Amino acid sequence: MSDAKTFFLDEEEIPFEEGQTIIQAALSAGKYIPHLCYHPEFKPHGSCKLCTVRIDSRTVTTEDGQSVKIPGRAAASCTTPAQAGQHVESEVPEIQDLRRTLIQMLLVEGNHYCPSCEKSGKCLLQGLAYDLGVMDPHFPQYFSKREVDASHPDVLLDFNRCILCELCVRASAEVDKKNVFAISGRGHTKHLICNSESGELGDTNLAATDKAANVCPVGVILHKRHGFEVPYGQRRFDKAPISDNPAQYAPV
Ligand code: FES
Repeated sequence: MSDAKTFFLDEEEIPFEEGQTIIQAALSAGKYIPHLCYHPEFKPHGSCKLCTVRIDSRTVTTEDGQSVKIPGRAAASCTTPAQAGQHVESEVPEIQDLRRTLIQMLLVEGNHYCPSCEKSGKCLLQGLAYDLGVMDPHFPQYFSKREVDASHPDVLLDFNRCILCELCVRASAEVDKKNVFAISGRGHTKHLICNSESGELGDTNLAATDKAANVCPVGVILHKRHGFEVPYGQRRFDKAPISDNPAQYAPV
């Protein structure tokens, strides 16, 4: 590792190539940093902030001889380039607390009723909540009123669970070249839409095999006639925590 450029992630030396972000280098080295909107096939989005790390904290000695830690800069590791010699903190209590809070906010903002969700056991949001030890939603439930779009012959949309990661938007634009999905509205009215005259998925040219139809990290984009093929208890995150799957995301 001597000639390679390296940085330190939780005191472990991580090699990286010029241009790699912190999360890219970490995942390549088999080190997991929690993330939701990051996907290696698309441009980083930097919206969920689950991948937040702290960079280059330092300890100073005060006039009366006390050691005081000055927290480093908080940054999204999916958009921040790795730099040689930098010290990155990820699995430290303050950052894990921040991630728990973000998960709790996402859980109350949408209608995430895991016991009845087809994605339970393979949902990244649920997997992260379990892995980070989120025991309750903490914040009052928002009970947002959202529709279900069952107009497509093969794919169902349940907008109740959308976390606005825009993975489907990016997949449809960058990989499928179809622009089936888009984001509309601002602030708390921001929501996922389908790009068709009627606004319904059935009037788009989405195919069930499209990347966009298979990239949702939560239970918004579901395939009809394939629900519950793998029983609860036998799914990916039922068997191993999400942090044991550093290079796996967006399971179908
Ligand atoms: Fe980095 Fe979402 S994974 S901001």
